[in-house]
Amino acid sequence: MTDLTRRNVLATGALAAAGVTLAACSSGDDAATEPTSDTQATPQASPAASGEALIAAAEVPLEGGVILDSGQTKVVVTQPQPEQYVGLSAVCPHQGCLVNEVVDSTIVCPCHGSQFAIADGAVIQGPATTGLEPVPVKLDGDQIVLA
Ligand code: FES
Repeated sequence: MTDLTRRNVLATGALAAAGVTLAACSSGDDAATEPTSDTQATPQASPAASGEALIAAAEVPLEGGVILDSGQTKVVVTQPQPEQYVGLSAVCPHQGCLVNEVVDSTIVCPCHGSQFAIADGAVIQGPATTGLEPVPVKLDGDQIVLA
């Protein structure tokens, strides 16, 4: 093999190796299902201080809930029974997206479709294998506050 031929072979091999590396780094077709910066919460997303007013009780629908995403406060406040208020983390335990809607007594994560019960955050439908973390809340006057 001449020097010129050996150089061509080495250069071709280097390009092929670079191509393999680039292909291994690409995200592929499943990018649409990955959490985005719009939906993914910070890992330490948790409510702020005890006593922080979250929402007026009158704004929490019976057999429904309200998703609050303000600063460190990422909480779902639900009302599964009349005047029974439940606080749950709005951060999905599957891959950290924020849940985005409460429909038919179910809290829904937009990223991969996990669903959780409004009464206790239990998993109704995966892929999440654990429920939403409880966040202690209480009724204080006409406000739901962090307990
Ligand atoms: S992050 Fe995957 S279902 Fe919520």
